[in-house]
Amino acid sequence: MFRRLAIGLAILFALTTPVAAADGQKIFQLQCRTCHLAKSSLSGPSLIGVSKRSIAALPDYAFSEGLKSKGGTWTDENLDAFMAAPKKFAPGTRMPGTWPVAADRAALIAYMKTLN
Ligand code: HEC
Repeated sequence: MFRRLAIGLAILFALTTPVAAADGQKIFQLQCRTCHLAKSSLSGPSLIGVSKRSIAALPDYAFSEGLKSKGGTWTDENLDAFMAAPKKFAPGTRMPGTWPVAADRAALIAYMKTLN
């Protein structure tokens, strides 16, 4: 009985703790790193220092016109909207995919802030 309660509380705690960059790191390794390495490559721009950086501003990557014409900076809100629907955020972007789970996006944003 107490054991069950303890397990229940542990699960509740796990579900309600704020998003951690460590979770974002795991997701990043699985779902982003194929294209985003430390250095820009043909598959994607470097995401080192991406948080608060100007959108599509790295000199060593040939960004799409779609992302270049977006303007602005990678605020948390912009990163969230981009991952949720890249082609809606910046029509013409070459980044494929969507990341529909808000908690995953929050963890990824927290992790990207540690990339410096
Ligand atoms: C299949 C390859 C691919 C995957 C997987 C991918 N990306 Fe991208 N990403 C790209 C490409 C290509 C661009 C450049 C898009 C353009 O120029 O329109 C890009 C651009 C970006 C940018 C903008 C960078 C800048 O300097 O403006 C961010 C932020 C980003 N990706 C985050 C992510 C995150 C986070 C993930 C994982 C959740 C991810 N990407 C997964 C290919 C990918």
